[in-house]
This record gives sequence, structure tokens and C-alpha cells, in this order.
Amino acid sequence: MTLQDRHILLGITGGIAAYKAPLLIRRLLECGAKVRVVRTATAEQFVTDTTLSVLSQHPVSADLFAPTDEFPVLHVGLAEWADLFLVAPATAHTLGKMAHGLADDLLTCVYLATQAPTMVAPAMEEHMLQHPQVVANCQRLRQQGVGWIEPATGPLASGASGKGRMADIEQIIADVESNLASQADSNSTQDLQGRRLLVTAGPTLEDLDPVRFIGNRSTGKMGYAIAEQARRRGASVHLVSGPTQLPVPDGVEFVGVRSALDMLQACESAFEGVDAAIMAAAVADFRPATSSQTKMKRDAGIKPIELVENPDIAATLGARKGKRVLIAFAMETGQGVDEARGKLKKKSADLVVLNNLQQEGAGFAVDTNIVSFVDSKREQTLPLLEKHEVADRILDEVADLLQRVL
Ligand code: CTP
Repeated sequence: MTLQDRHILLGITGGIAAYKAPLLIRRLLECGAKVRVVRTATAEQFVTDTTLSVLSQHPVSADLFAPTDEFPVLHVGLAEWADLFLVAPATAHTLGKMAHGLADDLLTCVYLATQAPTMVAPAMEEHMLQHPQVVANCQRLRQQGVGWIEPATGPLASGASGKGRMADIEQIIADVESNLASQADSNSTQDLQGRRLLVTAGPTLEDLDPVRFIGNRSTGKMGYAIAEQARRRGASVHLVSGPTQLPVPDGVEFVGVRSALDMLQACESAFEGVDAAIMAAAVADFRPATSSQTKMKRDAGIKPIELVENPDIAATLGARKGKRVLIAFAMETGQGVDEARGKLKKKSADLVVLNNLQQEGAGFAVDTNIVSFVDSKREQTLPLLEKHEVADRILDEVADLLQRVL
């Protein structure tokens, strides 16, 4: 059982859903977890410390400066005690403070002090949840790796019905279990611990006018799988992605871009701080020479579209890679090994991952891929694998190269 003997620090903030906290504690204990409670000042309006301390079998912590015999410094002691910090319910106010690193009470100090995975179960009125500021704060937290427990839809405290209820207790338990399971999973192979990786993914879109663009069929699946697996293996991952339909993997630092020029800028600023870059994006090689600010009208007739070359991002980074590891991709419809070797050289890459688009199960919009690893000495074709497995095989190469280079 994933929760057996795990230390769950439950952060309770001042929303009406706090009345469900005792039931949540109960369920966590039934699953074998040890629970302590840290609450904000306003949480007390909705649930008493007596109930919380009796159920959790520990005193409730609320005051940053409260004397304690248990820990030399309360917020640090609690932060270190936790295997997982679960803020449920999380109000808009506390989410905002967490998103901006503000620590004016015990709960937010614990958040900043803890190394444990943190999860939030937001609960608030629907319009609050939809407010752009709250949306931005939540997005920021998710990008920073905070686990998200989706609010439920149903009756709200105001009497209205909508999205914003704290997730059901069973859902929270399931999400906590899966977070802990994936931590355990990633603990098994932590060979990228301490490594910083830049991953590019998805297509770039090159605008012709406000409605039309030149794009390609990349879905981003390969790059996102690499980002996800690298995170699981302990790396800090900076994912720069063109527009995709995919959710941002938990725990990954994310920069969304649109065009090749945007992607170049985002990659150049991240590159200094990384040990390796994996260039899985399908970058448009060309962009329209001009992009109209207004919609091009049919009545204006057919005009040729003049294209100019985009910078080669991988080659730009490759030219100043120093000791960094650089992995490029190549997409070919023929054999492609010679072309891949050409790219290896042109981009100063350590390895080219060659996709043959004509093989069944390879290419865009499928969950599998068939790739070959090509470097100056070797051409190794892998079998048909899930994209996550391909990602792991690529990361094995990265781990190996990093060991050799650094
Ligand atoms: N790449 C890049 N910047 C570009 C174009 C490509 O960083 N402007 C990267 C891709 O992310 C990928 C590799 O370079 O890692 C692909 O190289 P590219 O020369 O574009 O190859 P293909 O698109 O496969 O081939 P072709 O030259 O045939 O278009």
C-alpha cells in the first residue's frame, strides 16, 4: 500500500471545504499514513483544533512562533517530517501566496521549506477559480511541480452549482497515492539527479496573418515523453514547446512558444544553465518573409508567399555547446543514415535520433516510435517501442554521455 507509514502533512486553509478535513484525515489514517496538520488562521473558522488533533493524534500547528519541544524550528521540522505536503482545501489566497513565494504564516513557510512533493486541492467559488489571476497562480504552481487535484463540479457554498468544490476524498486519496507511487518509481532510477536538461518539443507555427500559419504535424508526444521521463529520473527539466494539445508534465519548468524565433530565444536563455539539450521539436525551417497584421483578404487575389530561412536552433546551440551534451533528431522518409551523420556534424550534436517516417508505428501522432541512434561510429536501430520507452533509451544515452563528458 503506497500510503503505509508515509508522513502526510495536511495543510488546511480557511475555506468552507475545511469541514471535510477530519474525514480526509480519517481516510489517510485508514490507508496507513501518519498525519499531522498545519492550518492557517482562518481555517479555525471552519473546523476546530480539537477535532483535528484528536483525529490526527498530533497537536495541530498554526502559529509560526509557537514554542515546541518536538522540533528546534517548527516550520523546518514539519517540512522535514513530511513525505508529502497536501494542502486541502487550498484557498485562492494561499494558492496566490504559494505561487509567489510569500511566506507570512506557518503553512506557507512550510511550503517553502519542504523538499517533499506538494499537492493542492483547490476549493472556492467558480468565478474565483476562473479569475485570470487565480488561473495564472495555479498554472504557475503546476509549472513549478506542485501536484494538482482537480476541483469537482457540484453544489457550492453560495448555493450556486458549478466547478470549485474540493475534490472528493477518495479522489484526493487516489491522487496522493499516485503521486507517492510515481515518486517511488522515480527513486528507483535517479541517474539524472542533479542534471539540468533542456528539451524542445512540438511544432513551431509561422504566422502568415492573424488567422493563418505554416505549421507541421508534430504533436509533441516524443518531446513531452522525454521531459516526463527525465523528470522521473531526477533531472530538472526545462521544456520549451511549440503549441500542442498535451498537458504539461508535472514538475517540469515550462515555456510555451509559437514560432521558431520565439523558440530560439527561449532556448538560448535556458542553454547556459543546462548540462544537456534534447532537440525533439519539429522546427519550421522557413517562415514567411512578412506576416500581415491584418487578415489577408481573398478579394486581394493570390500572392506568392516569400519565405525566409529560420535559424537552426540546434546548430546555434551546438556552436557554443562547450561540455554540454546535445541530442538532435532527424526525420527522414528514406534510409537517412548519411543525412543523420550530416546533421550530427552540422549541429555539433553528440547523437542524432533518426526517425524513419515510412515505418509503421513511427512518426507523428502515434504512441510508438521506431528510431535509430546515429553517431560518428555507430548506427543502432531500436525495436518498435512506446514513446516513453524510446524516451528512456534516449535518456540512457544522455546519462552515459554526461558521465563521459562532465
Ligand atoms: N532543428 C532546429 N532548428 C531548426 C530546424 C531543426 O533546432 N530550424 C532541430 C530539430 O529540433 C531536430 C533537428 O534539428 O533536432 C532536425 O534537423 P533538420 O535539419 O531540420 O532536419 P529535418 O527536419 O529532419 O530534415 P531536413 O533538413 O530534411 O528538413
